[in-house]
Amino acid sequence: MAGDEILVRAVGAHKVYNSGIVRVHALRGVDLQIRQGEMVAVMGPSGCGKTTLLNCLSGLDDLTEGEVFIEDVPLNKMSDRAKTRYRALRMGFIFQSYNLLPVLSAAENVELPLLVAGVVPKDARVRAGEFLTAVGLSDFGHHKPSELSAGQQQRVAVARALANRPAIVWADEPTGNLDSDTSAQIMQLLHEMNRGNRQTFVVVTHDPAIGAYADRILRMKNGQIVEEVTPDRVGA
Ligand SMILES: Nc1ncnc2c1ncn2[C@@H]1O[C@H](COP(=O)(O)OP(=O)(O)O)[C@@H](O)[C@H]1O
Ligand SMILES: [Mg+2]
Repeated sequence: MAGDEILVRAVGAHKVYNSGIVRVHALRGVDLQIRQGEMVAVMGPSGCGKTTLLNCLSGLDDLTEGEVFIEDVPLNKMSDRAKTRYRALRMGFIFQSYNLLPVLSAAENVELPLLVAGVVPKDARVRAGEFLTAVGLSDFGHHKPSELSAGQQQRVAVARALANRPAIVWADEPTGNLDSDTSAQIMQLLHEMNRGNRQTFVVVTHDPAIGAYADRILRMKNGQIVEEVTPDRVGA
């Protein structure tokens, strides 16, 4: 079960995009707390602000108003450099479109963020192998992304996100391009990692079947969290 320690906190979060003449108020006063070890699903219709929320919580983008605290440190007090470093060391990212580098092998894709975080190459290679094994791809390390199925590519992306043993993993519609069986496998994998390593997961999804894996579901509508649900899971 999730601990009591608050890992991520948003207070009065607003985000306004100003692109020329169009002004979009994408987050309209979001308050939330995410505890260490929790798996939180963020659900809601297209355009309601899910990706914006993830980007602002993880420091990829800045709020217009309000504050985000990560491990009690206000993100807006961190320099860009410090944020980048913090992300490399403490965060993992999984995207709908995998975002693997096509010229690198599966193993090299997993190694890359480790090298960025300062792991020595020999150790990065070993750890990439371990994580590819954990996602069921021990025999595919030398394959390029184009030689892998969609589900296998997303497994590589999961291995890449987790190899640095991040405190928190952000996943934006990680199963959006996958069929329902493959989606279930990926979610099972994330669930195991969440339970096994007490890592915190924040997963944006459209899929109610995926929400069922979460400890909590935050429902968004029009830039706000309008409902918080704890799914019933007998025996979970
Ligand atoms: N970079 C951007 N510039 C301007 N508007 C944006 C930008 N990104 C998102 N938006 C707008 O902000 C709103 C929320 O978008 P988004 O966070 O992507 O929603 P979701 O992920 O829930 O589909 C939408 O109206 C979208 O068009
Ligand atoms: Mg989105």
